[in-house]
Amino acid sequence: MKYIKSFIRFIIWNIWLFRVKTKSKKMIKDPDQIVSRFGSILFDTIKRRLNIEDKIWVDNIEALRKDLSKDKSEVIITDFGAGDSKSNRSDSEMHIGQVGRSTIAEISTASKSPFWSLLLYKIISEFKPKTALELGTCLGISSSYQAAALTIYSSGKLLTMEGSSSLVEKSRENFTYLGLLNIEVIEGRFSDNLHKVLDDNQPIDYVFIDGHHDQNATINYFEIILPYLSEQSIIIFDDISWSKGMKTAWKRIVGNHNTKLNFDLKEIGVCFLDKQRLKKRTIKI
Ligand SMILES: C[S@@+](CC[C@H](N)C(=O)[O-])C[C@H]1O[C@@H](n2cnc3c(N)ncnc32)[C@H](O)[C@@H]1O
Repeated sequence: MKYIKSFIRFIIWNIWLFRVKTKSKKMIKDPDQIVSRFGSILFDTIKRRLNIEDKIWVDNIEALRKDLSKDKSEVIITDFGAGDSKSNRSDSEMHIGQVGRSTIAEISTASKSPFWSLLLYKIISEFKPKTALELGTCLGISSSYQAAALTIYSSGKLLTMEGSSSLVEKSRENFTYLGLLNIEVIEGRFSDNLHKVLDDNQPIDYVFIDGHHDQNATINYFEIILPYLSEQSIIIFDDISWSKGMKTAWKRIVGNHNTKLNFDLKEIGVCFLDKQRLKKRTIKI
């Protein structure tokens, strides 16, 4: 049964990749510069087009991911998130957090896959934000991809937020190991620290929200972050199809007048904000 499920997942993923490849080729020819550039990013991510410097970073991060996936050491984690898609945790349960024990190997499965991590890397390489913010550090895999691209392409910095102390410690070790100096990890609940992080670092050019996948929490973080974003900024949401609540949150975000150009990639949603842009457009892939 397990193998049949993996096989079906493999087929669905490959059909989706084929669709993205076809669609990205069309997008490259689009008269809208952002659509065209985003099409190239998608195409290059599928083709895994990397220069030598990119490849060194990606290989190092993937080697670290491999080590983490074999690490059976146990840590205590406090999860302030929504649990799994059927958990239905209440606001107070999420605020208090769920304390549990897990191995590093198990935790590492929550990291964005090499494909999605590379897509984040490519977005940063292309649009060159100076100040980037991530909600949800975990072991620091997606942070490392984003911070590496910021180092090479924009001399920018990444602020990344994580609620679980053991993961904060572990991610800091990983950043030191990789030699990434442009990352600041902010420890604590998003809701406790977000305002101060935004106040101290505005304007923010790029945001990746990959934690606390709850409908109201996601909309709330989006609304808190909005006034701190620079004129032309990017905000990315993970797991937009993960639950009914996340689908509703994504609909609300796409419907907001500030998100002018949106790409629905089924798993993640990418929004471009630009006050000068008159027409709204959403491209579903
Ligand atoms: C899916 S993982 C992040 C994975 C990471 N972005 C990657 O791809 O490598 C989500 C993380 O967000 C953290 N988190 C969830 N809700 C939170 C909250 N309300 N405050 C602080 N941290 C939270 C969890 O502890 C978890 O480590």
